[in-house]
Amino acid sequence: MEKKKIDWANLGFDYQKTDYRFVANYKDGAWDEGAVITDDTITISECACVLQYAQTIFEGLKAYTTEDGHIVTFRPDLNASRMADSARRLEMPVFPEERFLEAVEKTVAANAAYVPPYGSGATLYIRPFMFGSNAVIGVKPADEYQFRIFTTPVGPYFKGGVKPLTIRISDFDRAAPCGTGNIKAGLNYAMSLYAIVDAHHQGFDENMYLDPKTRTKVEETGGANFLFVTKDNKVVTPKSDSILPSITRRSLVHVAKEYLGLKVEEREVLLDEVKDFAECGLCGTAAVISPVGKIVDHGKEICLPSGMNAMGPVTQKLYDTLTGIQMGRLPAPEGWIHVIQ
Ligand code: PLP
Ligand code: COI
Repeated sequence: MEKKKIDWANLGFDYQKTDYRFVANYKDGAWDEGAVITDDTITISECACVLQYAQTIFEGLKAYTTEDGHIVTFRPDLNASRMADSARRLEMPVFPEERFLEAVEKTVAANAAYVPPYGSGATLYIRPFMFGSNAVIGVKPADEYQFRIFTTPVGPYFKGGVKPLTIRISDFDRAAPCGTGNIKAGLNYAMSLYAIVDAHHQGFDENMYLDPKTRTKVEETGGANFLFVTKDNKVVTPKSDSILPSITRRSLVHVAKEYLGLKVEEREVLLDEVKDFAECGLCGTAAVISPVGKIVDHGKEICLPSGMNAMGPVTQKLYDTLTGIQMGRLPAPEGWIHVIQ
């Protein structure tokens, strides 16, 4: 299979159409067989539930080329089960988890020419999503749905690659107490658009959202969970019912404990204690681990001792170990790496 002629090393995190996508439709209480198709467009009613009431959920995972030339995905079973949780929360039918895994496999295999080569710094981003497709005018869930997966080759999520970021504490919330912050619903991201555009205008890379109830605890950013490192090398990550259960964060907790022998605390993190941490990183599929150098709280700067030039040493070890596992340079825990046939 010949790779597409793409300048892999200079890709940003942008959509680029690839040749194939998987589509399945739900009607009369059942999913159809689904198929890999070439048409990247969708025609739906102007009154589709997704358009009127934002009934849409999504996932994000990546395909990697390993050192020995295989195409693999990372823990896709966790994306399948998180998407099932998201579907239940928005009154959508679950796309069966086994079928989710098969569909990811088929879509990646069909687009193998777009999977960036080993060592290029790029990956193939995989975006499964589902939406209510029939017309609904009273506020209620749709009866018909489309499940779809497209892929797109991507580089780093943040421009500048692994250069430490400057973030600010947001005055806006991305989630509500007892809301949908813990699932991957499109509506959470709509909530964050004003805040991210405003953050960029003010010269910040991202927003740190606080817990929407008391605004005293650290939650997450618009697209990644937080990891902090204490001055005595403990990894601390916020625990909250209104943040997305990041697969990257859960994996890094395991890596920290089992590969690096570090102590890990998953607990509430007060904004007040952030000034005492040695390192801070944003973790997610798109973000991988992006280091944070500075956090700005309404003009008051919290400068992480790791500085603005490079990742802190513990963050770097976490990054190297996680990407080593994903690219096949390090042995993976059982079931983490799924080889695309
Ligand atoms: N938090 C939010 C709000 C996200 O959108 C994402 C991205 O998926 C994450 C965290 C990281 O989750 P994961 O590591 O599963 O990609
Ligand atoms: C991901 O990391 O997969 C996400 O969905 C985050 C998004 C902000 C791109």
